[in-house]
Amino acid sequence: MERLHLVPYPEKVKLTGGYCQPGAKITTCEKELQKKEAYVIKITEDEIRIEGDKAGIFYANCTLKQLRMQFKDVMPCMEIDDAPRFAYRGFMLDSSRHFLPKDDVKKIIDIISLFKINKLHWHLIDDQGFRVEISAYPKLTEVGAKRGRSHFGLVDEYKNNSGYFTKEDIREIVTYAKEHMIDIIPEIEIPGHESAMLAAYPEIGCQNEPVSVVTTGGIFDNLICAGKEESFTFVTHILDELAELFPYEMIHIGGDEACKRKWRRCPDCQKKIKELGLLDENALQQWFVIKVQEYLKKKGKKVIVWNDSLRGEKLPTDFVVQMWMGDKELITDFVKRGGKIIQSSTESFYLDYPYAMWDVHKILDYEICPEYLENENAIIGVECPLWTERVSDLDRVFYLILPRLPAMAECGWTVKGARNAADFDDRYLTIDSYLKSDGICGAPETYWNISEELAEKDMEEHRRAMYTPENTAEFEKQEKMMEEERAIYGDERY
Ligand code: ACM
Ligand code: ZN
Repeated sequence: MERLHLVPYPEKVKLTGGYCQPGAKITTCEKELQKKEAYVIKITEDEIRIEGDKAGIFYANCTLKQLRMQFKDVMPCMEIDDAPRFAYRGFMLDSSRHFLPKDDVKKIIDIISLFKINKLHWHLIDDQGFRVEISAYPKLTEVGAKRGRSHFGLVDEYKNNSGYFTKEDIREIVTYAKEHMIDIIPEIEIPGHESAMLAAYPEIGCQNEPVSVVTTGGIFDNLICAGKEESFTFVTHILDELAELFPYEMIHIGGDEACKRKWRRCPDCQKKIKELGLLDENALQQWFVIKVQEYLKKKGKKVIVWNDSLRGEKLPTDFVVQMWMGDKELITDFVKRGGKIIQSSTESFYLDYPYAMWDVHKILDYEICPEYLENENAIIGVECPLWTERVSDLDRVFYLILPRLPAMAECGWTVKGARNAADFDDRYLTIDSYLKSDGICGAPETYWNISEELAEKDMEEHRRAMYTPENTAEFEKQEKMMEEERAIYGDERY
Protein backbone atom coordinates (compact mmCIF):
# COMPACT_ATOMS: atom_id res chain seq x y z
CA MET A 1 0.00 0.00 0.00
CA GLU A 2 1.22 3.50 -0.77
CA ARG A 3 1.67 5.29 2.50
CA LEU A 4 -0.53 8.27 3.10
CA HIS A 5 1.24 11.61 3.16
CA LEU A 6 0.48 12.25 6.79
CA VAL A 7 2.70 13.74 9.50
CA PRO A 8 2.58 12.56 12.23
CA TYR A 9 1.70 9.15 10.82
CA PRO A 10 -1.40 7.57 12.41
CA GLU A 11 -1.29 4.44 14.50
CA LYS A 12 -3.59 2.37 12.25
CA VAL A 13 -4.57 2.96 8.63
CA LYS A 14 -6.64 0.60 6.45
CA LEU A 15 -7.60 1.34 2.86
CA THR A 16 -11.02 -0.18 2.31
CA GLY A 17 -11.37 0.16 -1.48
CA GLY A 18 -13.21 2.66 -3.67
CA TYR A 19 -13.25 6.44 -3.58
CA CYS A 20 -15.14 8.99 -1.61
CA GLN A 21 -17.18 11.32 -3.76
CA PRO A 22 -16.53 15.08 -3.58
CA GLY A 23 -19.15 16.68 -1.37
CA ALA A 24 -19.66 13.52 0.72
CA LYS A 25 -21.39 14.36 3.96
CA ILE A 26 -19.26 14.76 7.08
CA THR A 27 -20.65 13.33 10.30
CA THR A 28 -19.04 14.17 13.60
CA CYS A 29 -19.70 12.24 16.76
CA GLU A 30 -18.11 13.58 19.92
CA LYS A 31 -17.53 10.75 22.36
CA GLU A 32 -14.85 9.42 24.68
CA LEU A 33 -12.69 6.74 23.08
CA GLN A 34 -10.29 4.51 24.99
CA LYS A 35 -7.46 7.02 24.98
CA LYS A 36 -7.55 10.79 25.41
CA GLU A 37 -7.10 12.80 22.20
CA ALA A 38 -7.79 9.67 20.12
CA TYR A 39 -9.94 9.71 17.00
CA VAL A 40 -11.39 7.44 14.34
CA ILE A 41 -12.07 8.46 10.75
CA LYS A 42 -14.17 6.25 8.48
CA ILE A 43 -14.23 7.37 4.86
CA THR A 44 -16.76 5.59 2.66
CA GLU A 45 -18.02 6.49 -0.80
CA ASP A 46 -20.63 8.88 0.48
CA GLU A 47 -19.65 9.75 4.03
CA ILE A 48 -16.74 10.90 6.15
CA ARG A 49 -17.44 9.90 9.72
CA ILE A 50 -15.36 11.22 12.59
CA GLU A 51 -15.41 10.08 16.20
CA GLY A 52 -13.41 11.21 19.18
CA ASP A 53 -13.29 13.53 22.13
CA LYS A 54 -13.08 17.27 21.47
CA ALA A 55 -9.32 17.15 20.88
CA GLY A 56 -9.66 13.93 18.87
CA ILE A 57 -12.15 15.58 16.53
CA PHE A 58 -9.81 18.49 16.05
CA TYR A 59 -6.96 16.07 15.22
CA ALA A 60 -9.18 14.11 12.84
CA ASN A 61 -9.76 17.37 10.99
CA CYS A 62 -5.99 18.02 10.88
CA THR A 63 -5.58 14.57 9.34
CA LEU A 64 -8.35 15.28 6.82
CA LYS A 65 -6.71 18.58 5.93
CA GLN A 66 -3.46 16.74 5.16
CA LEU A 67 -5.33 14.04 3.19
CA ARG A 68 -6.84 16.77 1.01
CA MET A 69 -3.35 18.13 0.35
CA GLN A 70 -2.52 14.72 -1.10
CA PHE A 71 -5.76 13.71 -2.81
CA LYS A 72 -7.62 16.99 -3.36
CA ASP A 73 -11.37 16.19 -3.59
CA VAL A 74 -11.34 12.47 -4.35
CA MET A 75 -9.97 10.52 -1.41
CA PRO A 76 -9.67 6.75 -1.22
CA CYS A 77 -12.05 5.08 1.22
CA MET A 78 -10.26 4.17 4.43
CA GLU A 79 -10.36 3.78 8.18
CA ILE A 80 -7.92 5.54 10.46
CA ASP A 81 -7.68 4.70 14.13
CA ASP A 82 -5.25 7.00 15.87
CA ALA A 83 -4.06 8.11 19.30
CA PRO A 84 -0.95 9.86 20.64
CA ARG A 85 2.09 8.20 22.15
CA PHE A 86 2.65 11.08 24.61
CA ALA A 87 0.19 13.47 26.24
CA TYR A 88 2.65 16.39 26.05
CA ARG A 89 3.83 17.50 22.60
CA GLY A 90 5.32 20.93 22.89
CA PHE A 91 6.93 23.82 21.12
CA MET A 92 8.67 26.64 22.99
CA LEU A 93 8.69 30.15 21.60
CA ASP A 94 11.15 32.63 23.08
CA SER A 95 9.50 36.05 22.79
CA SER A 96 12.16 37.80 24.85
CA ARG A 97 15.20 37.77 22.59
CA HIS A 98 13.08 38.89 19.67
CA PHE A 99 9.51 40.03 19.92
CA LEU A 100 7.19 38.75 17.20
CA PRO A 101 3.76 40.34 17.47
CA LYS A 102 0.38 38.76 18.18
CA ASP A 103 -0.50 37.94 14.57
CA ASP A 104 2.80 36.11 14.09
CA VAL A 105 2.13 34.06 17.22
CA LYS A 106 -1.25 33.10 15.77
CA LYS A 107 0.38 32.02 12.50
CA ILE A 108 2.76 29.86 14.52
CA ILE A 109 -0.23 28.33 16.30
CA ASP A 110 -1.85 27.56 12.91
CA ILE A 111 1.23 25.69 11.77
CA ILE A 112 2.16 23.79 14.92
CA SER A 113 -1.40 22.62 15.50
CA LEU A 114 -1.48 21.07 12.02
CA PHE A 115 1.05 18.57 13.42
CA LYS A 116 -0.97 17.90 16.58
CA ILE A 117 1.33 19.85 18.88
CA ASN A 118 -0.74 20.53 22.00
CA LYS A 119 1.47 22.72 24.22
CA LEU A 120 2.90 26.14 23.49
CA HIS A 121 5.53 26.86 26.11
CA TRP A 122 5.81 30.62 25.99
CA HIS A 123 9.13 32.03 27.19
CA LEU A 124 7.95 35.57 27.90
CA ILE A 125 10.59 36.85 30.29
CA ASP A 126 14.35 36.87 30.00
CA ASP A 127 17.41 39.13 30.31
CA GLN A 128 16.69 40.75 26.94
CA GLY A 129 13.02 41.64 27.37
CA PHE A 130 9.96 41.37 29.62
CA ARG A 131 7.05 40.74 27.23
CA VAL A 132 3.80 40.65 29.16
CA GLU A 133 1.78 43.44 30.70
CA ILE A 134 1.59 43.12 34.48
CA SER A 135 -0.80 45.64 36.03
CA ALA A 136 0.85 45.63 39.46
CA TYR A 137 4.24 46.59 38.01
CA PRO A 138 3.90 48.77 34.90
CA LYS A 139 7.64 49.46 34.67
CA LEU A 140 8.21 45.78 33.81
CA THR A 141 7.08 46.62 30.29
CA GLU A 142 7.71 50.40 30.26
CA VAL A 143 11.38 49.72 30.98
CA GLY A 144 11.85 45.95 30.65
CA ALA A 145 10.27 45.54 27.20
CA LYS A 146 12.55 48.08 25.51
CA ARG A 147 15.91 47.36 24.04
CA GLY A 148 17.94 49.38 21.56
CA ARG A 149 20.63 48.22 19.20
CA SER A 150 21.40 44.56 19.83
CA HIS A 151 24.26 42.32 18.79
CA PHE A 152 23.46 38.68 19.18
CA GLY A 153 25.30 37.87 16.03
CA LEU A 154 26.71 38.95 12.75
CA VAL A 155 25.22 42.40 12.47
CA ASP A 156 23.97 45.00 14.87
CA GLU A 157 20.27 45.03 14.55
CA TYR A 158 17.16 46.81 15.68
CA LYS A 159 14.49 44.48 14.33
CA ASN A 160 11.78 43.34 16.75
CA ASN A 161 13.87 44.27 19.78
CA SER A 162 11.10 45.99 21.72
CA GLY A 163 7.45 45.37 22.45
CA TYR A 164 5.17 43.39 24.72
CA PHE A 165 1.82 41.63 24.78
CA THR A 166 -1.00 43.52 26.42
CA LYS A 167 -3.52 41.58 28.47
CA GLU A 168 -5.94 42.01 25.58
CA ASP A 169 -3.39 40.43 23.20
CA ILE A 170 -2.83 37.53 25.58
CA ARG A 171 -6.56 36.86 25.96
CA GLU A 172 -6.96 36.87 22.18
CA ILE A 173 -4.05 34.45 21.75
CA VAL A 174 -5.33 32.18 24.53
CA THR A 175 -8.75 32.00 22.84
CA TYR A 176 -7.10 31.29 19.49
CA ALA A 177 -4.87 28.59 21.00
CA LYS A 178 -7.92 26.95 22.62
CA GLU A 179 -9.62 26.73 19.24
CA HIS A 180 -6.50 24.87 18.09
CA MET A 181 -6.41 22.55 21.12
CA ILE A 182 -3.22 24.12 22.39
CA ASP A 183 -2.56 24.84 26.04
CA ILE A 184 -0.24 27.75 26.62
CA ILE A 185 2.34 27.31 29.36
CA PRO A 186 3.76 30.71 30.31
CA GLU A 187 7.26 30.80 31.70
CA ILE A 188 8.56 33.25 34.23
CA GLU A 189 12.25 32.71 34.94
CA ILE A 190 13.09 32.27 38.64
CA PRO A 191 15.62 33.17 39.98
CA GLY A 192 17.97 33.88 37.03
CA HIS A 193 17.67 35.53 33.62
CA GLU A 194 16.14 38.56 35.35
CA SER A 195 18.04 41.50 33.81
CA ALA A 196 14.93 43.00 32.17
CA MET A 197 12.93 42.60 35.37
CA LEU A 198 15.67 44.15 37.49
CA ALA A 199 16.22 46.97 35.01
CA ALA A 200 12.66 47.98 35.92
CA TYR A 201 12.74 47.11 39.63
CA PRO A 202 16.36 46.93 40.89
CA GLU A 203 15.07 46.78 44.46
CA ILE A 204 14.22 43.09 44.07
CA GLY A 205 17.81 42.29 43.05
CA CYS A 206 20.75 41.86 45.41
CA GLN A 207 21.83 45.11 47.03
CA ASN A 208 19.62 47.21 44.71
CA GLU A 209 22.36 47.23 42.08
CA PRO A 210 21.35 49.02 38.86
CA VAL A 211 20.86 46.66 35.92
CA SER A 212 20.16 47.21 32.19
CA VAL A 213 18.12 45.24 29.71
CA VAL A 214 20.71 43.02 28.03
CA THR A 215 21.53 43.42 24.31
CA THR A 216 23.73 40.34 23.76
CA GLY A 217 23.39 36.63 24.38
CA GLY A 218 24.85 34.73 27.30
CA ILE A 219 24.48 33.98 30.98
CA PHE A 220 24.28 36.86 33.44
CA ASP A 221 24.42 37.11 37.20
CA ASN A 222 21.27 39.21 37.58
CA LEU A 223 19.13 37.14 39.93
CA ILE A 224 16.14 37.94 42.09
CA CYS A 225 17.46 38.39 45.62
CA ALA A 226 16.22 35.31 47.46
CA GLY A 227 17.15 36.85 50.79
CA LYS A 228 14.52 39.59 50.76
CA GLU A 229 10.90 39.02 51.70
CA GLU A 230 9.82 41.62 49.09
CA SER A 231 11.17 39.42 46.28
CA PHE A 232 8.76 36.63 47.06
CA THR A 233 5.84 39.05 47.31
CA PHE A 234 6.86 40.62 44.00
CA VAL A 235 6.99 37.24 42.28
CA THR A 236 3.63 36.15 43.67
CA HIS A 237 1.95 39.29 42.35
CA ILE A 238 3.26 38.52 38.87
CA LEU A 239 2.19 34.89 39.22
CA ASP A 240 -1.32 35.96 40.30
CA GLU A 241 -1.71 37.87 37.05
CA LEU A 242 -0.15 35.14 34.91
CA ALA A 243 -2.40 32.52 36.52
CA GLU A 244 -5.41 34.65 35.71
CA LEU A 245 -4.30 35.23 32.12
CA PHE A 246 -3.39 31.62 31.41
CA PRO A 247 -6.14 29.34 32.73
CA TYR A 248 -4.19 26.09 32.41
CA GLU A 249 -2.91 23.46 34.78
CA MET A 250 0.77 23.97 34.04
CA ILE A 251 3.10 26.90 34.59
CA HIS A 252 6.87 27.07 34.04
CA ILE A 253 9.12 28.85 36.51
CA GLY A 254 12.43 28.46 34.68
CA GLY A 255 15.40 27.90 36.97
CA ASP A 256 18.15 27.43 34.38
CA GLU A 257 21.56 29.08 34.32
CA ALA A 258 21.18 31.00 37.56
CA CYS A 259 24.71 32.32 38.05
CA LYS A 260 25.08 32.81 41.82
CA ARG A 261 27.91 35.39 41.81
CA LYS A 262 25.82 38.18 43.34
CA TRP A 263 24.08 35.83 45.78
CA ARG A 264 27.49 34.82 47.12
CA ARG A 265 28.25 38.45 47.92
CA CYS A 266 24.80 39.56 49.08
CA PRO A 267 24.32 40.01 52.85
CA ASP A 268 20.58 39.25 52.54
CA CYS A 269 21.08 36.02 50.60
CA GLN A 270 23.91 34.88 52.89
CA LYS A 271 21.85 35.70 55.97
CA LYS A 272 18.96 33.64 54.58
CA ILE A 273 21.25 30.67 53.92
CA LYS A 274 22.46 30.78 57.56
CA GLU A 275 19.02 31.33 58.98
CA LEU A 276 17.61 28.31 57.14
CA GLY A 277 20.70 26.17 57.70
CA LEU A 278 21.09 25.60 53.97
CA LEU A 279 24.16 24.01 52.45
CA ASP A 280 24.83 26.53 49.70
CA GLU A 281 23.36 28.82 47.01
CA ASN A 282 21.91 25.90 45.01
CA ALA A 283 19.96 24.96 48.11
CA LEU A 284 18.83 28.58 48.40
CA GLN A 285 17.54 28.46 44.81
CA GLN A 286 15.63 25.28 45.63
CA TRP A 287 14.21 26.73 48.80
CA PHE A 288 12.93 29.74 46.86
CA VAL A 289 11.58 27.67 44.00
CA ILE A 290 9.74 25.31 46.37
CA LYS A 291 8.23 28.29 48.16
CA VAL A 292 6.94 29.54 44.80
CA GLN A 293 5.64 26.07 43.95
CA GLU A 294 3.78 25.86 47.28
CA TYR A 295 2.12 29.16 46.39
CA LEU A 296 1.16 27.95 42.92
CA LYS A 297 -0.09 24.60 44.16
CA LYS A 298 -2.74 26.45 46.15
CA LYS A 299 -3.92 27.86 42.82
CA GLY A 300 -4.14 24.33 41.43
CA LYS A 301 -1.02 24.68 39.29
CA LYS A 302 1.51 22.04 38.34
CA VAL A 303 4.99 23.56 38.16
CA ILE A 304 7.65 22.87 35.51
CA VAL A 305 11.33 23.73 35.97
CA TRP A 306 14.47 23.29 33.85
CA ASN A 307 16.72 20.48 35.08
CA ASP A 308 19.19 22.90 36.73
CA SER A 309 16.68 23.23 39.57
CA LEU A 310 17.45 19.64 40.61
CA ARG A 311 20.72 20.84 42.14
CA GLY A 312 20.67 21.14 45.90
CA GLU A 313 18.51 18.88 48.02
CA LYS A 314 16.11 16.37 46.50
CA LEU A 315 13.51 18.26 44.46
CA PRO A 316 9.97 17.09 45.33
CA THR A 317 8.53 14.82 42.66
CA ASP A 318 5.38 16.86 42.19
CA PHE A 319 7.47 19.20 40.03
CA VAL A 320 7.81 18.35 36.35
CA VAL A 321 11.41 18.64 35.16
CA GLN A 322 12.21 19.73 31.63
CA MET A 323 15.50 18.11 30.69
CA TRP A 324 17.67 20.06 28.29
CA MET A 325 21.33 19.55 29.25
CA GLY A 326 23.43 17.98 31.99
CA ASP A 327 22.45 16.78 35.48
CA LYS A 328 22.09 13.20 34.20
CA GLU A 329 22.55 11.68 37.65
CA LEU A 330 20.10 14.07 39.27
CA ILE A 331 17.54 13.39 36.53
CA THR A 332 18.01 9.63 36.98
CA ASP A 333 17.49 9.98 40.72
CA PHE A 334 14.43 12.21 40.22
CA VAL A 335 12.87 9.66 37.87
CA LYS A 336 13.71 6.77 40.23
CA ARG A 337 11.84 8.62 42.96
CA GLY A 338 8.79 8.80 40.65
CA GLY A 339 9.32 12.24 39.08
CA LYS A 340 8.12 13.03 35.57
CA ILE A 341 10.09 14.75 32.85
CA ILE A 342 9.74 16.48 29.50
CA GLN A 343 12.36 15.52 26.94
CA SER A 344 13.93 18.60 25.28
CA SER A 345 17.53 17.52 24.90
CA THR A 346 19.90 19.99 23.27
CA GLU A 347 21.20 16.88 21.50
CA SER A 348 18.29 16.83 19.16
CA PHE A 349 15.44 19.16 19.92
CA TYR A 350 16.96 22.65 20.06
CA LEU A 351 15.71 24.23 16.84
CA ASP A 352 17.86 27.35 17.04
CA TYR A 353 20.80 25.04 16.34
CA PRO A 354 21.64 24.68 12.64
CA TYR A 355 20.45 21.80 10.45
CA ALA A 356 24.13 20.82 10.29
CA MET A 357 23.81 19.71 13.92
CA TRP A 358 20.28 18.30 14.05
CA ASP A 359 18.69 17.58 10.75
CA VAL A 360 15.25 16.08 10.33
CA HIS A 361 16.47 12.50 10.21
CA LYS A 362 18.54 12.90 13.33
CA ILE A 363 15.42 14.04 15.16
CA LEU A 364 13.40 11.13 13.80
CA ASP A 365 16.11 8.69 14.97
CA TYR A 366 16.57 10.24 18.39
CA GLU A 367 15.88 7.91 21.30
CA ILE A 368 13.45 9.91 23.42
CA CYS A 369 13.92 7.67 26.42
CA PRO A 370 17.67 7.35 27.05
CA GLU A 371 18.75 4.01 28.50
CA TYR A 372 19.60 5.46 31.89
CA LEU A 373 15.97 6.45 32.43
CA GLU A 374 14.91 2.83 31.89
CA ASN A 375 11.24 3.55 31.80
CA GLU A 376 9.33 5.54 29.16
CA ASN A 377 6.53 6.13 31.66
CA ALA A 378 8.73 8.73 33.34
CA ILE A 379 8.45 10.91 30.24
CA ILE A 380 5.26 12.89 29.81
CA GLY A 381 6.36 14.08 26.41
CA VAL A 382 8.65 16.02 24.14
CA GLU A 383 9.28 19.64 23.35
CA CYS A 384 11.32 21.59 20.82
CA PRO A 385 12.48 24.98 22.11
CA LEU A 386 13.16 27.82 19.71
CA TRP A 387 15.48 30.38 21.30
CA THR A 388 15.39 33.54 19.24
CA GLU A 389 18.70 35.37 19.70
CA ARG A 390 19.26 35.02 15.97
CA VAL A 391 15.62 34.67 14.94
CA SER A 392 14.17 38.09 14.28
CA ASP A 393 11.28 37.37 11.92
CA LEU A 394 8.61 34.83 11.11
CA ASP A 395 10.32 33.57 7.94
CA ARG A 396 13.31 32.53 10.02
CA VAL A 397 11.01 30.80 12.53
CA PHE A 398 9.47 28.70 9.76
CA TYR A 399 12.85 27.96 8.18
CA LEU A 400 14.15 26.58 11.47
CA ILE A 401 11.06 24.67 12.62
CA LEU A 402 9.87 23.19 9.32
CA PRO A 403 10.16 20.32 9.00
CA ARG A 404 12.10 19.64 12.20
CA LEU A 405 9.11 20.33 14.47
CA PRO A 406 6.85 18.01 12.43
CA ALA A 407 9.60 15.37 12.82
CA MET A 408 9.51 15.85 16.59
CA ALA A 409 5.71 15.78 16.47
CA GLU A 410 5.95 12.38 14.81
CA CYS A 411 8.27 11.12 17.60
CA GLY A 412 5.82 12.47 20.16
CA TRP A 413 2.61 11.27 18.53
CA THR A 414 3.22 8.08 16.59
CA VAL A 415 3.69 4.90 18.59
CA LYS A 416 6.97 3.19 17.84
CA GLY A 417 5.53 0.25 15.87
CA ALA A 418 3.65 2.55 13.48
CA ARG A 419 6.63 4.78 12.72
CA ASN A 420 8.65 4.64 9.56
CA ALA A 421 11.18 7.42 9.33
CA ALA A 422 12.38 6.29 5.90
CA ASP A 423 9.42 7.74 4.02
CA PHE A 424 9.09 10.91 6.11
CA ASP A 425 10.54 13.06 3.30
CA ASP A 426 8.04 11.72 0.75
CA ARG A 427 5.15 12.31 3.10
CA TYR A 428 6.29 15.75 4.14
CA LEU A 429 6.97 16.95 0.58
CA THR A 430 3.23 17.08 -0.12
CA ILE A 431 2.62 19.15 3.01
CA ASP A 432 5.65 21.30 2.21
CA SER A 433 4.36 22.25 -1.23
CA TYR A 434 0.92 23.07 0.22
CA LEU A 435 2.47 25.32 2.88
CA LYS A 436 4.75 26.94 0.30
CA SER A 437 1.71 27.84 -1.79
CA ASP A 438 0.56 29.68 1.32
CA GLY A 439 3.90 31.51 1.64
CA ILE A 440 5.22 29.36 4.49
CA CYS A 441 8.68 28.10 3.63
CA GLY A 442 10.67 25.66 5.69
CA ALA A 443 14.23 24.59 5.00
CA PRO A 444 14.86 23.13 1.52
CA GLU A 445 14.74 19.35 1.14
CA THR A 446 18.54 19.16 0.85
CA TYR A 447 18.73 20.15 4.54
CA TRP A 448 16.41 17.41 5.80
CA ASN A 449 19.04 14.68 5.54
CA ILE A 450 21.96 16.98 5.13
CA SER A 451 25.08 15.97 3.19
CA GLU A 452 28.51 16.43 4.76
CA GLU A 453 29.38 19.13 2.28
CA LEU A 454 26.23 21.16 2.91
CA ALA A 455 26.55 20.62 6.66
CA GLU A 456 30.01 22.15 6.56
CA LYS A 457 28.66 25.20 4.78
CA ASP A 458 25.70 25.45 7.18
CA MET A 459 27.99 25.13 10.20
CA GLU A 460 30.30 27.79 8.85
CA GLU A 461 27.36 30.16 8.42
CA HIS A 462 26.23 29.37 11.94
CA ARG A 463 29.67 30.10 13.39
CA ARG A 464 29.91 33.36 11.49
CA ALA A 465 26.49 34.41 12.74
CA MET A 466 27.15 33.30 16.29
CA TYR A 467 30.68 34.46 17.01
CA THR A 468 31.47 38.04 16.16
CA PRO A 469 34.12 40.23 17.78
CA GLU A 470 31.52 41.97 19.92
CA ASN A 471 29.72 38.96 21.31
CA THR A 472 32.87 36.85 21.48
CA ALA A 473 34.23 39.49 23.86
CA GLU A 474 30.99 39.22 25.86
CA PHE A 475 31.18 35.40 25.98
CA GLU A 476 34.82 35.61 27.06
CA LYS A 477 33.92 38.06 29.81
CA GLN A 478 31.20 35.71 31.05
CA GLU A 479 33.46 32.66 30.88
CA LYS A 480 36.15 34.54 32.83
CA MET A 481 33.61 35.54 35.48
CA MET A 482 32.53 31.93 35.86
CA GLU A 483 36.11 30.68 35.93
CA GLU A 484 36.81 33.06 38.79
CA GLU A 485 33.72 31.86 40.61
CA ARG A 486 34.74 28.24 40.15
CA ALA A 487 38.26 29.01 41.39
CA ILE A 488 36.83 30.43 44.61
CA TYR A 489 33.74 28.32 45.13
CA GLY A 490 34.34 25.17 43.08
CA ASP A 491 30.75 25.18 41.84
CA GLU A 492 30.17 22.82 38.94
CA ARG A 493 28.94 25.42 36.46
CA TYR A 494 27.67 28.63 37.95
C1 ACM B 1 18.17 26.68 28.34
O1 ACM B 1 18.42 26.38 27.18
N1 ACM B 1 18.87 27.65 28.94
C2 ACM B 1 17.11 26.04 29.10
ZN1 ZN C 1 20.50 38.75 47.55
